[in-house]
Amino acid sequence: MAAPSSVPVAQRGDLISLADLDLGQIREIVRNGVAFARGERTGEPLAGAVIGIYFRKTSTRTRTAFSAAALRLGARTVSYGPDDLQTNTGETIEDTAQVLSRMLDGLVCRTAGSTEELRALAAQPRMPVINAMSAHEHPTQALSDLVTIERQFGGVDGARVLYVGEGNSTAAALALSLPRFEGTELHLLTPPGYGLQPHVRAQAESFAAGSGSVLRESHDVADLPAGADVVYTTRWQTTGTTKADPDWRAVFEPFRVDEALLDRYPEARFMHDLPAHRGEETTAAVLDGPRSIAFDQAENKMYGAMAVLEWALRSRT
Ligand code: CP
Repeated sequence: MAAPSSVPVAQRGDLISLADLDLGQIREIVRNGVAFARGERTGEPLAGAVIGIYFRKTSTRTRTAFSAAALRLGARTVSYGPDDLQTNTGETIEDTAQVLSRMLDGLVCRTAGSTEELRALAAQPRMPVINAMSAHEHPTQALSDLVTIERQFGGVDGARVLYVGEGNSTAAALALSLPRFEGTELHLLTPPGYGLQPHVRAQAESFAAGSGSVLRESHDVADLPAGADVVYTTRWQTTGTTKADPDWRAVFEPFRVDEALLDRYPEARFMHDLPAHRGEETTAAVLDGPRSIAFDQAENKMYGAMAVLEWALRSRT
């Protein structure tokens, strides 16, 4: 998988990668997500806007979160599934972007793979584009997860997260955001051969060095941190991806969050980006247990989406 090309810090409201946003922009989106969740932000700041919701892969949470967020903010939506646009019959992504940008005020897109496709959609002057998950990164998942952490613990600075599972698009987004907050710890326990992409890890380590935070990745399930406020996992078969190794399950088997692992951190909450497969990445006892905030986390995706949409459309030039 190729590294995404480097681009300037987001100025126009595009959200392709969290690496494009500065910490102030991330803090603003998280703060507003919390305010929407608490009912401190009301009204319809996007009244009159039309938002395109274009999902080329399945989604329960993210698609609904952005659709509901747009409607709650007073905007209207146009939805496209994987078979709806003329890209399927050969129209270029660039021509598609030019046309959509003349009719829509913003586009939320889950691609079938590459983040570069999103950058091609964003290469027009009018319409901000929001990454609703590519193979590389799931930035709006991490932003709403930071909303969850802020709501649960009263702040993101100082939060200690143990992430257990594949170094997938969710892990990449967490690695590109959490270490930028002061005094945080992100310990990634990833199966060998399924870790963070090297360029993501290098960028995350650079962010951590700049903020005095800890970013560690290990493939050894015994290599656990001393403390954690959150134990986080993700499904073994990330949406839209496949694994070349037919025996990949044997590699993932030790990386299950069960009660024994969670009990090592008696004060920790359990988070999961969902969808879940009980018996694989975690157990029913953990996911449905009293320390799980996974379904609050899912609800926060809508408040995070409200904050992202408002930020994206307000940032338009
Ligand atoms: N967590 C997440 O992105 O869920 P969906 O795939 O259902 O949108």
